[in-house]
Amino acid sequence: MIRRPAFYNHLTSDRLASSLFHPNPHILLELKEETWFTTLITSLGGGLIATFLFTTKDLWLPTEFESYERNNHQIARESAIYDTFEKPPKFTQPIRNIILRNTLTNIIRGYITPSANSRGYPLIIGEHGTGKTCLIKLAAESIENPKGIIYVDTPNTLPSPSKFAEAMQEVLGWKPDPVIDTPESLENPSFDNIWGAFVRAAVKYQVKNKTIPVLIIDNANRLAEKQPELFDEIQDEAKRLTDEKIATIVFVSSEGHVPRRMMKRSSSWSRAGAIIEVGDITKEEALEYLRLREVKDMQALQIYDLVGGRMIHLEYAADEIINQVKSLEAVRKSSFTWVKKQLESAGLLYGGHETGGTIIRKLLDEGSISYDDYIRLTGHQNGDALLERNVFAFHYISDRITFQSTIVQQFCKENLAMYWLKKTRI
Ligand SMILES: Nc1ncnc2c1ncn2[C@@H]1O[C@H](COP(=O)(O)OP(=O)(O)OP(=O)(O)O)[C@@H](O)[C@H]1O
Ligand SMILES: [Mg+2]
Repeated sequence: MIRRPAFYNHLTSDRLASSLFHPNPHILLELKEETWFTTLITSLGGGLIATFLFTTKDLWLPTEFESYERNNHQIARESAIYDTFEKPPKFTQPIRNIILRNTLTNIIRGYITPSANSRGYPLIIGEHGTGKTCLIKLAAESIENPKGIIYVDTPNTLPSPSKFAEAMQEVLGWKPDPVIDTPESLENPSFDNIWGAFVRAAVKYQVKNKTIPVLIIDNANRLAEKQPELFDEIQDEAKRLTDEKIATIVFVSSEGHVPRRMMKRSSSWSRAGAIIEVGDITKEEALEYLRLREVKDMQALQIYDLVGGRMIHLEYAADEIINQVKSLEAVRKSSFTWVKKQLESAGLLYGGHETGGTIIRKLLDEGSISYDDYIRLTGHQNGDALLERNVFAFHYISDRITFQSTIVQQFCKENLAMYWLKKTRI
């Protein structure tokens, strides 16, 4: 015999039936109380069962269902990543008062536009603030239907490869998903995982569009400096992907020593593509820029004499002067303070570096020296280390060394006697 639950006992089926057909208010009230009580107990019971089932799901849920669910989530993620290939690349930096630099923009557009054939992996190099990132943005914007171009900016701080993996996840529209991610992979994203997802999406893009998609890695010098092993791995991958016609990796670097590091991996370097050097803008372009910024002609010439055609320095000087934060003299002073610090940290002040003084004098006399002459003076190791200190610049195409910028040159010119003709500190 099926036993009724105790809370049913006082409500016989006759009473229940009559309560339904005879609207006796007492019976109805009783029934109402019974109904909410039943509902409460049922939901509590349901809740308990659901919790029980959920916590023990590993025991009874067929593994097929679990892998089916994981598969679905994986497919959704990969299709979101693929979607980013079909959209224009995202740049955070807005450009105002644009100087078009058409020749460079056209060259760069040629290398970042997906094409049917492999072109090796190109390098865009140039000192800090010469305008590389802006040129890439201008080039991408000048493409009619800019798709198949992924742009990733290397983070400033790179304590581990995960940080770069995170940056890639962000641009590729990768979202955390507890169904397919482990807590460890959420905490420390794996570079291999996101790279694998990028490669799969690139293959799909290539098959569908018959053109090879492009990944631009901006500020790749940060990777070379902070995560050299990862950088080497990416360079090897760049070779593999170009060989297999899967993707073109464009490296953007503001340190001249990066291509030299890349050259040392001779088998991968064999697939390096074009090297595009971005330098300062011309005097006419600089004056045009300052005119756009509404700097008076006379002052524009003085600014150009101080900073030359380095985009970032022109922008800084214009910002300070137009907003009347600083006079030109104050801009000169603060710029020179920065240069002095660079020279000091490179050990080039106060007679601390004989060869540095010789190079400075030679550069002031001759404008540039050959890389071989430079290395003969400094030695290989010191020379390369010195190039990272923002005092001198290596120009890959001409194979020559110059001052890092006009501001450094001006400081050295004005302070030659003080630091590099005498050995005593003044
Ligand atoms: N063609 C341009 N027209 C107007 N402003 C520009 C142009 N190019 C660069 N700038 C301005 O100069 C500054 C430096 O440019 P950008 O960041 O592109 O240089 P970069 O070479 O990428 O520097 P870094 O090596 O430090 O990354 C930016 O703030 C930008 O707004
Ligand atoms: Mg940049």
